[in-house]
Order: sequence, then structure tokens, then C-alpha cells
Amino acid sequence: MRRTIWILSAAFLWYGCGGREDAGEAPGHEVKVELTAFELEHGIGPVTEAIDIGEIQMERVARGADFFDSRCASCHRMERRFVGPPLGDIMEKRSKEFVINFILNPEEMVSRHPVGRELLQDYLTIMPYQNVTGEQAIEIVDFLRYYAETGEDVRD
Ligand code: HEC
Repeated sequence: MRRTIWILSAAFLWYGCGGREDAGEAPGHEVKVELTAFELEHGIGPVTEAIDIGEIQMERVARGADFFDSRCASCHRMERRFVGPPLGDIMEKRSKEFVINFILNPEEMVSRHPVGRELLQDYLTIMPYQNVTGEQAIEIVDFLRYYAETGEDVRD
């Protein structure tokens, strides 16, 4: 049942994208991306302004690692492409606000955000929302920040 819903929403998204691209190709007609400057840089979701999550905290790293293992590792590896993109350098590539918004609001990120839409075209799978709380998203970010800074995967 869940699977069917994904497939249906994927079909809808493709249809939606196609429509918009056609409109964009009409002469003199530009595709309107109605996102704020903040959303373009930091993603669309519950985080709507810069947040301060402080320094890396090892308790958060450990909890984030466990959570990552159970809800994310089925699709993400650190250093190579899998079902989804590698996440070893994600904290260097994107802001923490972007990553948190992606984790908390993946469906809208791949339907409305240009980076998300490009990722979806490349990976052809819609990342499902994993029932993550804001606090858990911050713990995952700490796990990913720790990996990016030290190269150490605390799950090993
Ligand atoms: C069913 C597979 C799947 C699961 C489970 C999953 N993801 Fe994803 N993720 C993807 C795919 C595929 C993409 C690329 C965008 C798309 O097509 O949805 C992605 C994209 C991302 C991105 C954006 C990468 C970028 O370059 O900006 C982040 C961050 C991310 N995932 C983190 C996570 C985290 C953290 C979890 C666990 C809470 C998770 N994902 C669970 C498949 C998954």
C-alpha cells in the first residue's frame, strides 16, 4: 500500500515537472521558482531562519549514529553513491539548515527545490520522510559533522 502511494506520487511529480518544463521552453516565458533567498540556500521546511546548534557534542554524535544506522543507512553510504547520494561530505556541501530541512521535509524538497529536483532526476527514488524529530535531525547533523571533520565513522 505504502509502495503504491510512492509510485503514484512519483508519477505525479514527473508529470508535474514535465508540465513546468514545457512552459519554461515557450519563448519569452521564464520558469518561476517562487522560493525565498533563504529557501534557495537553506532548503524548504520547518527551519526558516539561521539556527545555532553549537559545537559538536559527542552524545549527540552517538545518538545520531544509531538513528542513522536504523533509518538512513539502507539508502545512504558515506563515500559512495547508493540508493541516495553519499553523505560523507554533505556538511561541507550544504548548510546545516539545508540538511535539517531535507531530513524533515524530503518530499517537498524534491518537488519544489531546484537542488532536490535535480537530485530526484539523478536518483529516481523519492526519499521518504523517516519520522524524524527536530532533535533527532540535529543529532544526525552532529554525526555527519563529526564524520566530515575527522573522517571517523563512529559506527565502525
Ligand atoms: C529509501 C531510501 C532513502 C532513505 C531511507 C533515506 N534517504 Fe536520504 N535520500 C535518498 C535519495 C534517493 C535522495 C536524493 C533525493 C531524492 O531523490 O529523493 C536523498 C537525499 C538526501 C539528502 C540530500 C543530499 C544532498 O546532496 O543535498 C540528505 C541530506 C539525506 N538524503 C539524508 C538522509 C538521512 C539523514 C536519512 C535518514 C533519516 C535518509 N536520508 C534516509 C534516499 C533515502
